[in-house]
Amino acid sequence: MQTREQSAPFPHTLLLGNFYGGKPRASSGAELERRNPADHRDVVSVAPQSSAEEVRAACVAAQGAAKAWAQTPAPQRAEVLGRLVFLLIQDKEALARFVAREVGKPLREARGSVQEAIDTAVFFQSEGRRLYGQTVPSELPDKELFTYRRPLGVVGVITAGNFPLAVPSWKIIPAILCGNAVVWKPSDDAPGTAALFFRAWQRAGLPPGVLSILHGSGKDAAGQFLIDQVDAGHLNKISFTGSTAVGRKIGEVCGRNLQQPSLELGGKNPLVILADADLDLAVDGALWAAFGTAGQRCTSAGNIIVDRRVLATVREKLVRRARALRIGDPSNPDVDYGPLINQRFMEAFMAQRATGLDDGAQLLLDGRRVLPGDEPELFSGDATHGLYAAPRIFDHVKMDMRIAQEECFGPTVNLVEVDGVDQAIAAANATPYGLSSAIYTRDARSMLRFKEEISAGMTSINNSTTGAEAHLPFGGNGWSGNGTRESGIWVLDAYTRWQAVNVDLSGKLQKAQIDIAGSALPELEDLEVILPARR
Ligand code: UN1
Repeated sequence: MQTREQSAPFPHTLLLGNFYGGKPRASSGAELERRNPADHRDVVSVAPQSSAEEVRAACVAAQGAAKAWAQTPAPQRAEVLGRLVFLLIQDKEALARFVAREVGKPLREARGSVQEAIDTAVFFQSEGRRLYGQTVPSELPDKELFTYRRPLGVVGVITAGNFPLAVPSWKIIPAILCGNAVVWKPSDDAPGTAALFFRAWQRAGLPPGVLSILHGSGKDAAGQFLIDQVDAGHLNKISFTGSTAVGRKIGEVCGRNLQQPSLELGGKNPLVILADADLDLAVDGALWAAFGTAGQRCTSAGNIIVDRRVLATVREKLVRRARALRIGDPSNPDVDYGPLINQRFMEAFMAQRATGLDDGAQLLLDGRRVLPGDEPELFSGDATHGLYAAPRIFDHVKMDMRIAQEECFGPTVNLVEVDGVDQAIAAANATPYGLSSAIYTRDARSMLRFKEEISAGMTSINNSTTGAEAHLPFGGNGWSGNGTRESGIWVLDAYTRWQAVNVDLSGKLQKAQIDIAGSALPELEDLEVILPARR
């Protein structure tokens, strides 16, 4: 990685290369420029568009590295994580500033997303001294049973740009701790952050070849080429965060190869506000869930489902608060949210407006792209060179409308009216997704019912849909994933397989289920109480 000095106000551009087989690789292919979404004049990085041949070579090379790494004792593997923690803490501010510049996250949130990677590394550093298997009693004498977690081999990791450090860390850290080699294709929205994370691993002393990085886009490019390596027999698993459509394709490829991918896909997350809720608290949560990170989290709230008794109050408070949101340059500590990550998100955000109106929903706040000369009052960004969107709220939304069903990354949310807890839970369950969910209520019985009846991988009670902690299982139901979970102890099952071992010390062939002594059954005549009538 080199830096290219440019004239002010653009301090530098990262010139990125691929790194696999333990070596930096020159790439002859096309280059991808990543520009700061808050200021398109600022070229953040230039990365190669990797070819199919490079991706194949990286996966083959990783197979070579995987074996030695798997044989390294887990506590020693975890030592690398200890050093990674140290480096991430040391570089936290610089990394956060870079994340803010590359993907437009407000600095506060960018710091939080670096912290999420630190938390993950801390957790798995100590897991290296556990990674427990079990001892299990045998049914036969002089025989011992054990279980061991074994690594899978080479894991292909494909990640999205909205959490360019946190989400890759959820995958790469446990995969490597468990003894796998990883070939990573980061988002082309965040290649620079990925390169900085990769460099931290190198500085932490990860043996060459255990982690490889290949840049490029997804469709018909490096992402697809990596998926192709499953059919080619060079990958043992894919771990993916991104759209449901791509997740389905990965599921098909992995399925025919009898592999289980980790798929962390979309969401259309419901946030329910019942009539007895603390409404100020609920609106705080709704505002953050809908508009935090400019609505570009897979845990962002898509539908705010409100009891009709409090709808007018919620509507008024939400609109007032949304109007007062400060949108602007992410490096400004006062902004609530920054730009959209890419042009594709902006186009989908604008298309959603048309879809909602077509569906018959009504605009309470007409969020659009912020254009020069038409900036909202509290706007502090550069509308000419930045990709900003104003908040949008749709009212009178019915759950069968497309805008209630389809995920949209951007600052947009729907108000859905319901009558009572039964209707609220039914509406919350009325999308094909099931990632995050939230309910605001003071009633313990409603909390219990929601927890039990909502189909979602994550549920918040009196808290927003976003903000999962790094050591709880993360993942969803339905179209939100394939049932695998990230984070905490639960992710270990995604990057290991169980091996059952039996050791027979009896010196003779003992047949399970057959050579068991057992205790003698009583004679039938003794069973008078059971069958007296037949006697
Ligand atoms: C994502 O949007 O892909 O729970 C991840 C949250 C964050 C992670 C979101 N901790 O909102």
